[in-house]
Amino acid sequence: MKNPEQHGSDNSSEDRVRIFDTTLRDGEQAPGFAMDRRAKLRMAHMLEALGVDVLEAGFPQASPDDFAAVAEIARTLTVPTVCALARCQQGDIETAGRALERARHSRIHVFLSTSPLHREHKLGMSKAQVLDTAVAAVERARGLCHEVEFSAEDALRTEPEFLAEVFSAAVAAGATTLNAPDTVGYTTPAEMEQLFAYLRQHVKGAERVIFSTHCHDDLGMAVANSLAAVKAGARQVECTINGIGERAGNASLEEIVMALRVREPYFQTGTRIDSRKLYPASRLLTQLTGQAVPRNKAIVGDNAFAHESGIHQHGMLKHRGTYEIMHPQDVGIGETRLVLGKHSGRHALRQRLQALGHQPEDAAMDDIFARFKALADKKREIHDEDLEAIALGQDPEAAG
Ligand code: KIV
Ligand code: ZN
Repeated sequence: MKNPEQHGSDNSSEDRVRIFDTTLRDGEQAPGFAMDRRAKLRMAHMLEALGVDVLEAGFPQASPDDFAAVAEIARTLTVPTVCALARCQQGDIETAGRALERARHSRIHVFLSTSPLHREHKLGMSKAQVLDTAVAAVERARGLCHEVEFSAEDALRTEPEFLAEVFSAAVAAGATTLNAPDTVGYTTPAEMEQLFAYLRQHVKGAERVIFSTHCHDDLGMAVANSLAAVKAGARQVECTINGIGERAGNASLEEIVMALRVREPYFQTGTRIDSRKLYPASRLLTQLTGQAVPRNKAIVGDNAFAHESGIHQHGMLKHRGTYEIMHPQDVGIGETRLVLGKHSGRHALRQRLQALGHQPEDAAMDDIFARFKALADKKREIHDEDLEAIALGQDPEAAG
């Protein structure tokens, strides 16, 4: 193992959740999300500013460009541990080691399927062969980086006893992070909690390692499953900006971070992410990939802090806690938006008119409100110019 005394915080006794970002590996692997080396480097700098603990930069064996991207990220970043993925094959592991040579803190992430389905149909290996292959890979990787993570692919469909056996062998061989991925997004939060509790009890050397969760979103439960793993003691969450990733995606980083922040008393742990950079990170990724997030996406979607209905706007104007559980500024969004549309009420309209410098009397307000509603039936959103025209007694449709 390289300079063990200098490596990152992988084995520290701190009880916080480490954020392992895999936007540039699992995220980039999804159709439509490929990024070239320059784009990856820009995103890597943003992720470093965000405060991720581990940044999985790519799969160096996949292509010369991926190798170069990992090497450049490893050479340039100073704070996070830079990680490269490798199958449990000597060639992959040595290529990953070379790509990481100049990293301040490096991690090789070796993975091997453990489930019966994958053992039989993908690998054609017996349990004993899986065990031997995993151990040999961890031992080989140990000499080439500061720390080794072992992932049991399709862990959630693996016999728990066998999973514990493979993990115990990986720890004995030198792995310091054990990742149990829900590779196909199949599990439920209750099952997740149960498995992590079991692993913490049955893996030999469990007290020396960090357990990690890596969830896919095929059934829309990636974030809930990741949080269930945290509840049961996982202290690394693997996730991506905007939840991008294979098929339906990975657990979304911004949702994990804010759930741990907003419900801190429930989880009794948190992250060291600078949450005010979540929205800028999301925006940068959409620019680099050309893929927008849906309006209703939690935390970073256009509607995440927007209110149109009159009842909600009225509540918000009295006390923002009525309909908001976090401040938009906490995630790097400037302001809550009270969108004026056909569901809005008099309070929000009057407030917006006042902000625009108009102080209508109650009688005038009746007429303005009626004209506003008539226009709102025709247009999705009412803009300030429309309101100005209505307040001045002009025809907004003629004005705009
Ligand atoms: O989903 C998965 O199992 C993976 C592994 C390589 C960790 O991405
Ligand atoms: Zn994955």
